[in-house]
Amino acid sequence: MAGRIPQSFIDDLLERADIVEVIDARVSLRKTGRNYTGLCPFHNEKTPSFSVNPDKQFYYCFGCGAGGNALGFLMDYERLDFPQAIEQLAHHLGLEVPREDSADLPRTQQRRDMFGLLDKAANFYQHQLKDHHAADRAEDYLRQRGLSTDIITQFSIGFAPPGWDNLLKHLAHNEADQQLLIDSGMLIQKDNGGCYDRFRDRIMFPIRDHRGRMVAFGGRVLGDDKPKYLNSPETAVFQKNRELYGLYEAKQANRQLNQLLIVEGYMDVVALAQHGISYAAATLGTATNEKHLEKVFRLAPKVVFCFDGDKAGRQAANRALEATLGLMQDGREAAFLFLPEGEDPDSLVRQIGQNAFEQLLQEAQPLSDYLFETSAKGIDISSMDGRARLSQQALPLINRLPAGVFKSLMMQSLAERTGLEQQQLSHLIEDIDHSEANKPASENTAPPYSAEYADPASNADLQPVRRPQLNDAQRQLQWSPTRRAIMLLINYPQLSEQIDPENSLQLDSRDPDFELLKELVSQARAQPNATCYNLLGHWLGTAAGELLAQLLTEEPAINESGAQQELLDCIDHFAKSMQRRNREALIQQLATNRSLTLDQLNDDQKKLLAQIGKPKPS
Ligand code: UTP
Ligand code: MN
Repeated sequence: MAGRIPQSFIDDLLERADIVEVIDARVSLRKTGRNYTGLCPFHNEKTPSFSVNPDKQFYYCFGCGAGGNALGFLMDYERLDFPQAIEQLAHHLGLEVPREDSADLPRTQQRRDMFGLLDKAANFYQHQLKDHHAADRAEDYLRQRGLSTDIITQFSIGFAPPGWDNLLKHLAHNEADQQLLIDSGMLIQKDNGGCYDRFRDRIMFPIRDHRGRMVAFGGRVLGDDKPKYLNSPETAVFQKNRELYGLYEAKQANRQLNQLLIVEGYMDVVALAQHGISYAAATLGTATNEKHLEKVFRLAPKVVFCFDGDKAGRQAANRALEATLGLMQDGREAAFLFLPEGEDPDSLVRQIGQNAFEQLLQEAQPLSDYLFETSAKGIDISSMDGRARLSQQALPLINRLPAGVFKSLMMQSLAERTGLEQQQLSHLIEDIDHSEANKPASENTAPPYSAEYADPASNADLQPVRRPQLNDAQRQLQWSPTRRAIMLLINYPQLSEQIDPENSLQLDSRDPDFELLKELVSQARAQPNATCYNLLGHWLGTAAGELLAQLLTEEPAINESGAQQELLDCIDHFAKSMQRRNREALIQQLATNRSLTLDQLNDDQKKLLAQIGKPKPS
């Protein structure tokens, strides 16, 4: 049996491999600036948001959040496990994969065997639901809960019959299998060495991972016994704070998912599917966390959280909000639906049906609304003091959004709600960042049901997906819109075509960067095919050149269409602040020169005066 692959070899392999070469062999890439871009192979898209960074040897999709190194890409793209990906990359580079001697069964092999046995267990439970002499009660129970045979099959729902050794007898044919069944949580070992079935006389809901492999079970009692649901413990193939019940089934049932609902219970998922809403998934007795959401956003651009309308529901919603913020790249959406007190999605959809339920989903509260509502809770925002407190509540949340149009809009909205200038808010953010930096890191997604957690690093080697630190989220706010616009343009020079330098960029002499922005736009417009480096050449050796070079090393953290929208936002901002400044100047003029008459004003000033609403007779 092959032993473990030494970590030093894996490091060496990644050192030698070129991620651009690996990906380019499978996905057509185009060089854009320092990076390469292409259409993301992990979700459906028409404009490229998939980017490969040769310096960091890292790929990242701004559309779906997929990301990782060369090995992670091979695993996801070729559907390989970790050792297979290593073999393939090593073969490509002409290297032989060394193995450490190991007396243990390698973990990957153990995992593979577990998937196989759990699959057999699921089959067994399904058959028992049809064949076991006690299965009538289970059948009746499922009928009474409104489930059809099709849905029962689609979710592979089964029945663990009463008795201590049904599964044991059926699957534990030898010592090794028995040990594997213990390790996978299906059998419980007694002190005297014997063992017995964990799940007895329960409806069985198999839990599949994102590749459809059986990883765990939830078992429901048929009556009122406790616990109502018994779940598999954490094992080498199952970590409950990473998995969502029904996610794989939702993926299978829909060619393309526009949204995914996150609900609380097994029966919610199944009952929704029974009523035509085949795009729900449930967390497994834990709070929604970022790992869950990364999985969800890979499949759908929008997530709707369903919660009870009670206090616990609000608390769960706040935790979900916290977990979602950092993942709200432009193009993603999140919304919150609060159900009437005493209802869950299962009971509600049974009463009102698919259409009315989907109508409710459409009316779910967008994350932006919910964020401001929850921040303003208990605060009287008609007072100055209240508005200051609102900004204190909302800013740390908004600050966790990734840089982009959505974040800018949220900042704008906060400025409007509080009457504070964006600049003042940015100062507050600096304070927050400062105090965050001095705080110990804390996990704010503690599960409500305390759980026997396995070592989170235990299958770290199968989790190659890492997100780059989007720390320019903070930088963005410290920048002036002028600098932000320059940064976007030097990264995406072709966007200069969107700008009319005559009308959109009136000179703002108070901003030292504004002249550079205008020059950059006109240079880029004059040379439509120029790369950022061609453009930089124009300012070589000047202070402006240094600034541009520095801005070029800042990653905009958004794709081209995101950058375009944000640039247009900046331009809009320039126009508005120019208007405001003109207006202030005019008011100043009117205030100091009382003998000023209408015909001494130019057309723009006359228009402004009409807007201010104080026409002065000549
Ligand atoms: P609920 O108590 O809300 O149950 O638990 P439910 O989903 O409405 O169940 P039904 O409709 O009575 O069948 C919600 C979820 O919390 C976890 C399960 O994942 C469940 O689906 N839970 C609940 C447990 O793990 N154990 C329990 O004993 C209870
Ligand atoms: Mn229920």
